[in-house]
Amino acid sequence: MSTTAAPVPHPSLPDGEVEPLDPFDDAQIAEFHAVYEAADRYGRRFACPFSLHELAITQRTTSVGEERLAFLVRVDGAIAGVAGVEVPLLDNTDQLFVDIQVAPQHRRRGLGTLLAQHAAVLARERGRAVWNGWVAGREVDGPETPTPGEAFAASLGLRLGRVDVQRRLPLPVPSARLEELRCTAARQHEGYSFDTWVDHCPDEHLAAYCRLKSLMNSEAPVGELEVEDEVWDETRLRESERELGASGRIRYVCVALAPDGSMVGHNELVVPAEDPGIYQWDTLVLPAHRGHRLGLALKVANVAVVQDRHPDRTSVRTFNAVSNTAMIAVNEVLGFVPVEYQGEWQGPVPV
Ligand SMILES: CC(C)(COP(=O)(O)OP(=O)(O)OC[C@H]1O[C@@H](n2cnc3c(N)ncnc32)[C@H](O)[C@@H]1OP(=O)(O)O)[C@@H](O)C(=O)NCCC(=O)NCCS
Repeated sequence: MSTTAAPVPHPSLPDGEVEPLDPFDDAQIAEFHAVYEAADRYGRRFACPFSLHELAITQRTTSVGEERLAFLVRVDGAIAGVAGVEVPLLDNTDQLFVDIQVAPQHRRRGLGTLLAQHAAVLARERGRAVWNGWVAGREVDGPETPTPGEAFAASLGLRLGRVDVQRRLPLPVPSARLEELRCTAARQHEGYSFDTWVDHCPDEHLAAYCRLKSLMNSEAPVGELEVEDEVWDETRLRESERELGASGRIRYVCVALAPDGSMVGHNELVVPAEDPGIYQWDTLVLPAHRGHRLGLALKVANVAVVQDRHPDRTSVRTFNAVSNTAMIAVNEVLGFVPVEYQGEWQGPVPV
């Protein structure tokens, strides 16, 4: 991890200065995580923060894909607000991703703004012009008043570029239901086949799998966001596999193969070590192969494997753009139910 951030004094705060996180200081990262988790969970029933171990691995690991920075602000010596920044290095090289969290008891006194100002300095140092932030917390059947995160993002001059919905699938799905869905779908993709792996992509699938992962931004709806395809190659993929393993997460991949053997779709489920939930990551079927129920088949096959191997897990979580009608239809057939909105905010780096 590289942190070039020097402490930045803030005139309106008696003890407000920003300092970089030392990710190898166990006590400091535990305090950092406690603030991050408390802020993320505050007032929310559907938060899914990183565990301390996952956060530590992320911050202690360097990545070819992104520079990772984390910093914090103290009040009376204790950490009161934290921020994580990801700076893409292989693609989207005009952008950065910022996550700011302030402990509930320290809000509305400028700490979030102070952390944002510091992130803006780092952005400019790296020549980044476009700022991205995720804001979660509004329940689908909750009040329409802006959440603190939405009001804060607007105060930074960001605009809402895409609305996603978190859906949850209660586990286990009855095996008879999965078999029924599998059989119904199979009638529409005769000649196609499926392959699966856990964690380590087989060498023979590596190039095709990286190609599919690289297409996610152009093949899934991006709304009003300006974003380009990510670059996935062998180095980045193998690195991500090592990092996932170190963080205790297990990735299950199911891929669809066309009659000519080419890879035309994929689905990833990720099982964290400590969390009762499972994450749905990528799902993609290439445009020329849509309409064959491959998306449903991929999901059904992967859910069947994962719930069998992890009978203690209670749900799968997925995040889809509200405009992604095809993916949402597949999810609802499987039994996913909407729980919470997540906004993707984007705009110029604040001055
Ligand atoms: C969003 C968050 C980081 C704001 O932290 P904060 O320290 O309270 O923010 P600031 O005091 O710097 O607020 C800056 C401005 O944002 C807006 N704002 C922040 N919280 C608000 C709220 N609850 N209601 C209305 N406006 C709010 C206001 O315009 C505020 O300026 P003002 O106090 O002069 O009116 C904090 O509420 C939080 O941790 N939320 C959960 C995580 C999250 O949603 N992060 C957003 C990532 S973009």
